[in-house]
Amino acid sequence: MSTSATKANLSLSERMADPKWWRQAAVYQIYPRSFYDENGDGLGDLKGITAKVPYLKELGVDAVWLSPFYPSALADGGYDVDDYRDVDPKLGTLADFDEMAAALHEAGIKIVVDIVPNHSSDRHEWFKEALASPKGSAARDRYIFRDGKGENGELPPSDWDSVFGGPIWERITEPDGTPGQWYMHIFAKEQPDFNWENPEIREDFLKTLRFWSDRGVDGFRIDVAHGMAKDLSEPMPMKDDLLARAHGTDGFIDGSHPFWDRDEVHEVYAEWRKLFNEYNPPRTAVAEAWVHESRRARYASPEGLGQAFNFDLLQSDFDAESFKQIITDNLVHAKESGASSTWVFSNHDVVRHATRYGLPKGGSVAQGTNAAQDVTGSKPKGQDGKGWLLAGAPQEELDVELGLRRARAASLLLLALPGSAYLYQGEELGLREVTEIPDSERQDPSFFRNKGVEIGRDGCRVPLPWTPEGPSFGFGAGKAHLPQPEWFKDYAVSIQEGVEGSTLELYRKALGLRRQLQTDEELEWVETGNPEVLHFSRPGGWETVTNFGTEAFELPAGTVVVSSGPLEDGKLPADTTAWVVRDA
Ligand code: GLC
Repeated sequence: MSTSATKANLSLSERMADPKWWRQAAVYQIYPRSFYDENGDGLGDLKGITAKVPYLKELGVDAVWLSPFYPSALADGGYDVDDYRDVDPKLGTLADFDEMAAALHEAGIKIVVDIVPNHSSDRHEWFKEALASPKGSAARDRYIFRDGKGENGELPPSDWDSVFGGPIWERITEPDGTPGQWYMHIFAKEQPDFNWENPEIREDFLKTLRFWSDRGVDGFRIDVAHGMAKDLSEPMPMKDDLLARAHGTDGFIDGSHPFWDRDEVHEVYAEWRKLFNEYNPPRTAVAEAWVHESRRARYASPEGLGQAFNFDLLQSDFDAESFKQIITDNLVHAKESGASSTWVFSNHDVVRHATRYGLPKGGSVAQGTNAAQDVTGSKPKGQDGKGWLLAGAPQEELDVELGLRRARAASLLLLALPGSAYLYQGEELGLREVTEIPDSERQDPSFFRNKGVEIGRDGCRVPLPWTPEGPSFGFGAGKAHLPQPEWFKDYAVSIQEGVEGSTLELYRKALGLRRQLQTDEELEWVETGNPEVLHFSRPGGWETVTNFGTEAFELPAGTVVVSSGPLEDGKLPADTTAWVVRDA
């Protein structure tokens, strides 16, 4: 086995200084309000993250990505930002941030923060100023205001829907009390869209990126990176026209949609890239861009953000053929762009994969904004019968045990792939989606704006269980801000720690090995003679075999260094992955 390219050979300071650190990093997403609550107010906080640095270190991740922790009224879980250069007082202070950053860095863990450039919150001082200022003013020009249609401007400027349901335009009351202009919000009405043609917006985001980079932030996750640029020239197309011109739910492939994935957005990223490259090592960025795969490379290019999420595996069933195709295609795309690929099964927007894989095939497609962000700007994918299932299907269709077994197999496969692995807090515990949240306790705007038709994303945002007892299973001393189900206790960190075969120990082992075995960014498929079994090797590294079928499969010769479940007489059972190191 070649060890020349492994990260285990690097000292901690070499690893931290490596400009390529992100290319094969394991990045752990923290949803700060639900990670660990240090002060007992029911909401996770930055001090809570600092307290859990030893946990993250032991888990073996290279970086954490923090979902927004900025001041926010939480109209959209923090993606409605009041102030981009501060910490929400409910979560801590800038000093707490510095302390957390120092602790993470000392443990050899990089920090990626979320930047939300498409929209601010309606409590942002600029939006308040826009509302208080007259039509046509410079303050209004920072956002997207238009006169309404109809005799008295009583109709919205276009018939487009917002991602969370309901119209994309909201009418305001002018400072003199009369009904006034309309402003655009792709997401909730509390999230007014910025006008990216305004140089002041561009300047201000450069300032924000510098602010966090100077504070030691290593990289950025760019929220809705395919938004921002807009062409709202008249006549604005009707939503049915947009739907007709789209390539299914994959959106537009020619950049002609009025507000998704327009080419001009890359001018912004080219400017950001210059700023990122002023730092040593250069700051990294990953685009959250739900775009047609043929358009992803632009976001991921070295002149642009440098990396882009691919959500293809996340939207696939647990299926050998589809996994193989997705992996093959994405490695090609990544090479074309000069980036490394990204892999992800779960995040704060989608149904956890331990649930998706426990549902009947075809219904296991993720639901959340990805579904709702149907780039046609029309109805959410869920209404095509996919993301529905969780909301509409009887829960007895969920096979909990099967879901977890497959989730573990899938995760072990993902951790073997060349490129960056993005993990979401709680998946290392084998958590599944929490479906039993009463309507009265739901927080997600997609639940309310869709009038409960989609149950929204709260089920993957429930605070983590750290211990099997306590008022919030060790999350904090108070009641958690989203209710945790009784079954959470069986998944608590403390009861999985040190227990061979637990999901936590599986992740720890795999992440440790990944660091030791990691080789170049190559993958070779090995013919198995069985379409239900995938086998690939990392040249100079190790073999990964996943059995998507029903019959146990003979493993290649060598030492099994980790498997997602017990072997059956030395064979690989159904819904299981193993890593094999060939004997020298
Ligand atoms: C992204 C975030 C999601 C948020 C939306 C609007 O898709 O991941 O949580 O609701 O952007 O900011």
